[in-house]
Amino acid sequence: MRVLVTGGLGFIGSHTVVELIQNGYDVIIIDNLYNSELDVKDKIKDITGIEPKVYIKDLLDKKEIENIFKENKIDEVIHFAGYKAVGESCKEPLKYYNNNLVGTINLLDIMKKYNVKKIIFSSSATVYGNPGVPKYSESLGRGKTTNPYGNTKSMIEQILEDLYKSDNIWSIGLLRYFNPIGAHESGLIGEKPVGIPNNLMPYILKVASGELEYLRVFGNDYNTHDGTGVRDYIHVVDLGKGHVKALEKLEKSGPGLYIYNFGSEKGYSVLDLVKTFEKVNNININYKIVERRPGDLDEYYADSSKAEKELGWKAEKTLEDMCRDSWNFMKKQK
Ligand code: UFG
Repeated sequence: MRVLVTGGLGFIGSHTVVELIQNGYDVIIIDNLYNSELDVKDKIKDITGIEPKVYIKDLLDKKEIENIFKENKIDEVIHFAGYKAVGESCKEPLKYYNNNLVGTINLLDIMKKYNVKKIIFSSSATVYGNPGVPKYSESLGRGKTTNPYGNTKSMIEQILEDLYKSDNIWSIGLLRYFNPIGAHESGLIGEKPVGIPNNLMPYILKVASGELEYLRVFGNDYNTHDGTGVRDYIHVVDLGKGHVKALEKLEKSGPGLYIYNFGSEKGYSVLDLVKTFEKVNNININYKIVERRPGDLDEYYADSSKAEKELGWKAEKTLEDMCRDSWNFMKKQK
């Protein structure tokens, strides 16, 4: 099977490409290098022994994307490419709507034209909004998203649902990730944020490496076991393996709309993560408790039982693995 992976040089994309190649898929990547680097291609080759074909193209450039479909017989698509910074999306909503929505519509239009009707979309737990319970299951349905980034995830899910309703030959997977961290155990690929990170683990890594002085813990008066925010962290390698299972499901079960949560089903606080990181890596992480970050929720984690039942997938790696592998990658960057 030949899979086209958009955003395949990015954090989750590259780990998924490794798993796909290791499971015998022929992978073609489209990436515009907005938040990734070309040498990831060589790292993928170092890990798997196979160099995927890479097109440095932008999904907004519809003609160029169509050329890729003309040149290659593509069987299915995994669509990661998109902007993902919540804060930036509030400042520049048009940039987010244009890139994420128009890029996706271009891709779907071309897929339709070339009769490629299998797609997995990289969605997020953010589509649940604030459902009022901490354990999110797929049966809750989409809620009210709270920022343009989240809105694009929710809107794209809706677009894909409408597409399926209009033509139920499509096989569509919507994968809702919780908080992906960690890195490949080789330390060759991982998350490399540009500038000051927004997310917790990349920020901890920069404090650990001495690039930033201390971590700002956004509030310690949440309704959680230690007052700091609780999230469901999932190892990116587990996530990559989940994509292979989801693709197999689409191939086996045929047309349909398949929705799965991908999380570890465990909630850890900001301080749990800091303490585990310190213990596993034997490094002190300086932190200060500061104001809450607007829009953050107290606590949520995944109910991933549907993925376990229907895909035979379950997150296997521990928080210790995630902290160790994240730091192992970061150390190799110097
Ligand atoms: N946090 C800090 N300090 C930081 C960064 C984060 O204390 O410097 C805290 C947050 O307040 C939160 C937790 O760490 O309690 C996790 O925050 P992240 O920014 O790492 O992740 P979020 O849970 O806010 O958001 C993530 C992704 C979104 C996605 C969402 C889905 O970044 O893209 O999960 O649930 F939409």
